[in-house]
Amino acid sequence: MFAQTIAENGIFELGGERLRVESSSVLPRPVSDATGFVLLKSKPYLDIYASIAAGEKPKTLLELGVFQGGGYVFLDKLLNPEKMSAVELAAKPVEPLVDYVKRTPGRSVHFGTSQSDEAALNRIVDEEFGGRLDMVVDDASHMYEHTKKSFEILFPKLRPGGLYILEDWAWAHHPNYQSPDHAWHKHTSFSQLLFELTALMGSTALMTEMKILKPLVAIRKNPNCPPITGNIWDMVRLRGREMAPV
Ligand SMILES: C[S@@+](CC[C@H](N)C(=O)[O-])C[C@H]1O[C@@H](n2cnc3c(N)ncnc32)[C@H](O)[C@@H]1O
Repeated sequence: MFAQTIAENGIFELGGERLRVESSSVLPRPVSDATGFVLLKSKPYLDIYASIAAGEKPKTLLELGVFQGGGYVFLDKLLNPEKMSAVELAAKPVEPLVDYVKRTPGRSVHFGTSQSDEAALNRIVDEEFGGRLDMVVDDASHMYEHTKKSFEILFPKLRPGGLYILEDWAWAHHPNYQSPDHAWHKHTSFSQLLFELTALMGSTALMTEMKILKPLVAIRKNPNCPPITGNIWDMVRLRGREMAPV
């Protein structure tokens, strides 16, 4: 359980920083300011991360999808890695986060950078983390293709025994997403990737655990993972059958 008291207005303090939980999707979208870093994670997410933090001591942490920086600061203060970085597609820098990164050694953030930008992700892991990647938190597009591409790039770089987290995998099954008029109706569901990850786990010795919780999936890389050469998706065995996308 996340023990910190969260005020009625969503504000709480962690490690000397003020955060503001925002769960409403109403426009205009909230911005980080003197009242706190806007955090798009509700209490169940905070509880899950608190329990993860009880057993996990990552030295390096990469967040995909920053929004207003609340998730970045929350994960940083909770998990206290030596180095942290993040990518965010939106090009406009979030000034309070830019300021936070400047005053906190070993921190960086890359705006205008997609989660599927292979060169950028490789550069971050190799140059900023010295090649060591302990934990990934993907809270970016929630789109099947982008999420799969990030996993394909980053999972081979993850340290054996490291943790790869995928947030908000269940959107295609939510009542609000069922209408053919919904903007995401034509998109392949995120959960399609979970089926493929299940097949990957069954086919290989890459992963030891895939813990599916309603808010997120936590994938443990095998501490004895064999060296990965080539594309991980080519390692899936389906007895010659096709998986029909959902
Ligand atoms: C759910 S919000 C992130 C919330 C944040 N992690 C937090 O906990 O407060 C998702 C963010 O991902 C960004 N995003 C969308 N597509 C992306 C992509 N392809 N690469 C990187 N970021 C992306 C969006 O601009 C948005 O800011």
